[in-house]
Amino acid sequence: MGIRLTGRLNSTPGVADDVATWSDPLAQALAQLPQERLRALRSWQPHTDGGLQAAGPDAATTPAPLKDLASNDYLGLACHPALQQAAAAAMAREGVGAGASRLVSGSRPVHTQLEEALAAWLGRERVLLFPSGFQANLAAVQALADRHTLVLADRLIHHSLLVGVQASGARLQRFAHNDLSDLERRLNMARRDSPSRRLLVISESLFSMEGTSPDVGALASLAERHGAALLLDEAHALGVLGPGGRGLGHGQRNISLISGTFGKAFGSGGAFLAGDALVGDWLLQHSGPFRYTTALAPPLAAAALAALELMQAQPERGEALLKRAERWRAGITAAGWPRPPGHGPILPLLVGDDRRAMALQQQLEEAGWLTGAIRPPTVPPGTARLRLVLRHPLPQGSLMPLLAALGAP
Ligand SMILES: Cc1ncc(COP(=O)(O)O)c(C=O)c1O
Repeated sequence: MGIRLTGRLNSTPGVADDVATWSDPLAQALAQLPQERLRALRSWQPHTDGGLQAAGPDAATTPAPLKDLASNDYLGLACHPALQQAAAAAMAREGVGAGASRLVSGSRPVHTQLEEALAAWLGRERVLLFPSGFQANLAAVQALADRHTLVLADRLIHHSLLVGVQASGARLQRFAHNDLSDLERRLNMARRDSPSRRLLVISESLFSMEGTSPDVGALASLAERHGAALLLDEAHALGVLGPGGRGLGHGQRNISLISGTFGKAFGSGGAFLAGDALVGDWLLQHSGPFRYTTALAPPLAAAALAALELMQAQPERGEALLKRAERWRAGITAAGWPRPPGHGPILPLLVGDDRRAMALQQQLEEAGWLTGAIRPPTVPPGTARLRLVLRHPLPQGSLMPLLAALGAP
């Protein structure tokens, strides 16, 4: 059945000319996308040198492996033998897939081991696993907000958190990026209007497209002073920032939920939420995104557990990456680019124009570097950027050739 749009024609046989088909709005939206905003899927294969080799049809045009400055596998664990062996052993022992949700028959020993190990590492009472960070964020917002809640979220939070707010039915206000005085003003106003209203503050500890972090201690005490819950997404910080890579929320008691993913520094896939026993029980009893989905695949859980063990045994991996990121910031600034903000391994070079970002990405690719040209709608219009990700496997001495390939700002 079509949706009636006045003045529109369609050419579907058997459908009246003035009746639009379901696909018309999709076709229109696609036709309106400018060339420089179009996305395409390319296939890559990890290379033994730690880079990525184009696969499929792209292999003909990009035959040499590229140095990987685009992936979020910050510590280079995705191809680490310890993770590969752990995943293979779990697959043989517990199956490729879990076959059911956690509450039916999908819970495996490796799920419990990983949840307990993460809870101990992070100093939180309860951890629950999810198949992805996107889903964990939906669950987290729905646990902490309902349609009577006012959510105060950093302007640049991840899309999954915004979808969570929409699903919860809460009202949303966005505060200026990492601007705690703007947040405080809004919290004061909200409390003046309604002393008993449920409030939720949402932020991230390392913003993936900016490389910036809030003052998490100040954020947590601000939320606490106003009786607001705090959800902190640590997707990009865990494994790299905070004591022993435990994130910037580590040691802060007044964070209601921490969200983490295994798809980045953990080199695996899947995600988790960490909090106190009460919110853990609530999630177990009520959360749709936890209950109505197939449990995290056992090989992925086993690989995440192996990654956690490596992070604990070798904290110097993350520490060295942070020191190197500071040297890169200094080198990039000395080459005339604005200093990439923040302190982690995400080093965005602000370019502004979408087409220029694409051209720089292409120029670097021709010189052997894979980077991400990040454009709207991922970032606000006029702020396109080249996102450089400093990763552990990147050979020492890479910065100077990279800057030479980049040319003058
Ligand atoms: C800040 C942030 N949160 C959550 C997610 C989602 O994590 P996952 O890739 O595990 O779905 C991402 C990944 O893009 C992210 O950048």
